[in-house]
Amino acid sequence: MIEIIQKKKNGLELTKEELEFVVEKYVSGEIPDYQMSALLMAIVLNGMTDEETINLTKIMKNSGDILELNEIDGIKVDKHSTGGVGDKTTLVLAPLLATVGLKVVKMSGRGLGHTGGTIDKLESIKGFNTSLSIDEVIKQVNEIGVAVVGQTGNLVPADKKIYALRDVTATVDSIPLIASSIMSKKLAVSSDVILLDIKVGNGALMQTIDDARKLANLMIKIGKSENRKTVCVLSNMDEPLGEMIGNATEVIESIDTLKGNGPKDLNELVLTLGGLIVSLAKNISVEDAKKDLENNLKNGQAYLKFKEMVDAQGGDIDNINSSKKSISIKSKEEGFIKSIGTLSLGEILKEMGAGRIKKEDKINHKIGMKIHKKVGDYIKKDEELVTLYTEDNNYNIDKILKCFNISKQKCDKEPLIYEIIV
Ligand code: URA
Repeated sequence: MIEIIQKKKNGLELTKEELEFVVEKYVSGEIPDYQMSALLMAIVLNGMTDEETINLTKIMKNSGDILELNEIDGIKVDKHSTGGVGDKTTLVLAPLLATVGLKVVKMSGRGLGHTGGTIDKLESIKGFNTSLSIDEVIKQVNEIGVAVVGQTGNLVPADKKIYALRDVTATVDSIPLIASSIMSKKLAVSSDVILLDIKVGNGALMQTIDDARKLANLMIKIGKSENRKTVCVLSNMDEPLGEMIGNATEVIESIDTLKGNGPKDLNELVLTLGGLIVSLAKNISVEDAKKDLENNLKNGQAYLKFKEMVDAQGGDIDNINSSKKSISIKSKEEGFIKSIGTLSLGEILKEMGAGRIKKEDKINHKIGMKIHKKVGDYIKKDEELVTLYTEDNNYNIDKILKCFNISKQKCDKEPLIYEIIV
């Protein structure tokens, strides 16, 4: 291991055998955390070649079970977001894709850092079970077309262990390490189409379009190396997605969107991602694919499919654990919203209890916010800027208001979709 660390420290390429040695011995506990940390830091500083990254991804993928979906009839599709604030896309897109006959096995995560997790959000619905066995997932997807669950089985244990170490050694922000972490998990489930939503902006892991593009190209190359149709969308995370952030609040906004009444940006993102997935899966044009999806949002099919999924997973759609109290936060200034501290809003909610500070913390599903104004919007003095949903008293209104930068000069709205890379 010392020789391998030395080699990467000197900027040299590691062989497949060396990477196999590292992953196998780290997962088995023979390589200690301090040596793995040193290697990870050398990778962050000196990078990896594409070939090294592809090898690392495949070795990580093979570190545990592989979820073969052969027993599911039809075209299997998957999507993944690199994480943001207010990103509830999966809650809408997974059932929506099932309405057009695609099969969606979606394994989601819990909140990480300031970003929320789909599994935590779904657990705001009373009784919703996110830990199904592999057999239960296959049965449900064959019957109704969709299941959204937490990690099931022993999938990619190497990523679980390496990710936890990266989180506490300042080695998360490395393009090859992010690409291998995400793609090892995507390739361990044998979907036919993989869509990756790469968030860019002050609320995301990728801060620049340039870095997001590099990550996209690398993940597409990894996907292609295993003959998977992989497509990346670079989307805006300089402001929260939609109007609601939190857990129960995001489920409520997702239900509105599933009924055809969603906020413009969320609706547009769902249709853009969905259009690409359906087009690749069925070999039809993106425009036709989008039209089919849009119809199913408007005619009630999408909501019915969501309800069917909630019922199948033991949840009670009429019983969402939301706050009975809300506080109206009004703007102290007049002007245009120039920017929103998206990461700070996520951090504030996390500290109030909507996310975890320690891994084992329990979250409070009721806590959330509605953001009434987005970048480019005009606000008057004393007009409501944020509605805070909480039944507790641990909030700081000034801290929330500081997340909004208000300017006298007119500001442009930012695009939602920056690029699509196939
Ligand atoms: N999401 C992941 O799953 N892995 C990373 O490394 C970063 C984001």
